[in-house]
Amino acid sequence: MSSDILERLAEKREQARLGGGQARIDKQHEKGKLTARERIEILLDEGSFEEWDMFVEHRCHDFGMEEKRIPGDGVVTGWGTIDGRMVYVFSKDFTVFGGSLSKAHAEKIVKVQQAATRNGAPVIGIFDAGGARIQEGVDSLAGYADIFLENVMASGCVPQISVIMGPCAGGDVYSPAMTDFIFMVKDTSYMYVTGPDVVKTVTNENVSHEELGGASVHAVKSGVVDGAFDNDVEALIQIRRLMNFLPGSQAEKPPTRPSFDTIDRVEKSLDTLIPANPNMPYDMRELIEKVADEGDFFEISPDFGANILCGFGRIEGAPVGFVANQPMTLAGVLDIDASRKAARFVRFCDCFNIPLITFVDVPGFMPGTKQEYGGLIKHGAKLLFAYAEATVPKVTVITRKAYGGAYDVMSSKHIRGDVNYAWPNAEIAVMGAKGAAEIIYRAERDNPEKMAERSKEYEDRFANPFVAAGKGYIDDVIQPHNTRHRIARSLRQLKNKSIKNPPKKHDNIPL
Ligand code: HXC
Repeated sequence: MSSDILERLAEKREQARLGGGQARIDKQHEKGKLTARERIEILLDEGSFEEWDMFVEHRCHDFGMEEKRIPGDGVVTGWGTIDGRMVYVFSKDFTVFGGSLSKAHAEKIVKVQQAATRNGAPVIGIFDAGGARIQEGVDSLAGYADIFLENVMASGCVPQISVIMGPCAGGDVYSPAMTDFIFMVKDTSYMYVTGPDVVKTVTNENVSHEELGGASVHAVKSGVVDGAFDNDVEALIQIRRLMNFLPGSQAEKPPTRPSFDTIDRVEKSLDTLIPANPNMPYDMRELIEKVADEGDFFEISPDFGANILCGFGRIEGAPVGFVANQPMTLAGVLDIDASRKAARFVRFCDCFNIPLITFVDVPGFMPGTKQEYGGLIKHGAKLLFAYAEATVPKVTVITRKAYGGAYDVMSSKHIRGDVNYAWPNAEIAVMGAKGAAEIIYRAERDNPEKMAERSKEYEDRFANPFVAAGKGYIDDVIQPHNTRHRIARSLRQLKNKSIKNPPKKHDNIPL
């Protein structure tokens, strides 16, 4: 082969790697952002990236676009490895037409999505783009729809992760919205269906990019994203960490790794985790960290619906999903946000063969018009539905309160909890003793002494785990310091669990 041809190839590659050119790359850096290729380099194992379609160009002839063709057309695609395990990636290049989506650009993304589904590996999409390529009109809309369809086809087959690292507007928002997890970078990224200018025209609201769709909105208020990181590098390192908990596809078990943490590690401090006063909060995160291998917990949506904790950890080296009421926030009550957050997490774990460990300390569902008008009934039902349909191993520990419907919902025996434990101070009842006494003994309500007596009577009857244990609803009452050991042994016992739901086209979870 002549050296000319090889040189020409090298030149063409070099030109494609420059994307929109050095000036635009510099601008990207000035904004505190990395380029599409720099992001892939950090995300993947060194030297593992194989780029596809770097010479693809758009096919638009309108608005002077014929003269403006840039190889790659605004998105870098291909595959590589994270800690040796295959993943597919696409990374939007803002330096090329603002990362906007042409038909050719969409075809590149669809190619990696289809390969991922066929070959059983996750897809990670990095977003930094201005939406539909305005010059391409309906071709751009068609391209988006092609991507959306592949998102839906891949859902539940392979994990799909989106990372928002710049603008993500218009058509760009709906692909991430259909993936399993979305993460953002604080201050440099924003996500919305319509931007501040359109908002001003339609609703006369004055709102900044950050106020409309920054990480401070989506990681805290809307719950659209599952976590926000300080900068591009931190976000990409955390995505690498997350991928270590996930299997390549639904056909695989999640990856295990050697653990130096012993199965029977005793945690004496857990015996005093629960305060003497049942109305005092304590940090449920401490329990998760003391149970998980080496205290490693990857939390999902820490700042949204903080009354429930969700995230990944490992027991004996194998990934598990933790779901736990958090008494530090709103006493761990189940409300709309907490139910939605946990339901989606439970369903993700069930899709990808990740056993569920549930820690329960829940005073019930949140009362009030705000919650009822917001559809608490339907949202609470999501969590109930998710736990009930899940076929992965499910181990539950009631640490303190398990009141009312929330007792049923939180992976109870009755909805196929495999192993259900309680700590000795657990209270399993329809409601708190005071409220119960006020209803049963309504006539005595104005007599405080009598009410205190009645309340004590109810408490003595139900403020313990033994009534439920006496009926087999709780398999055992365990010592807090042995929690890790008991959970680990349960997971061993459930290693070959195999159950199937009745045949159906698909279920109809309340949405
Ligand atoms: C074509 C675009 C573009 C787009 C940006 N560019 N967005 N080209 N189509 N959608 C180009 C700009 O013309 C500019 O080119 C370069 O990218 C960088 O853009 P700037 O505006 O200079 O960058 P910045 O100031 O950082 O602003 C970023 C931005 C802004 C906020 C994203 O570019 C913007 O508002 N873009 C339009 C967003 C939008 O309305 N998209 C359509 C959404 S509708 P030059 O050559 O000057 O450097 C949609 C419907 C699809 O997506 C629905 C499907 C379901």
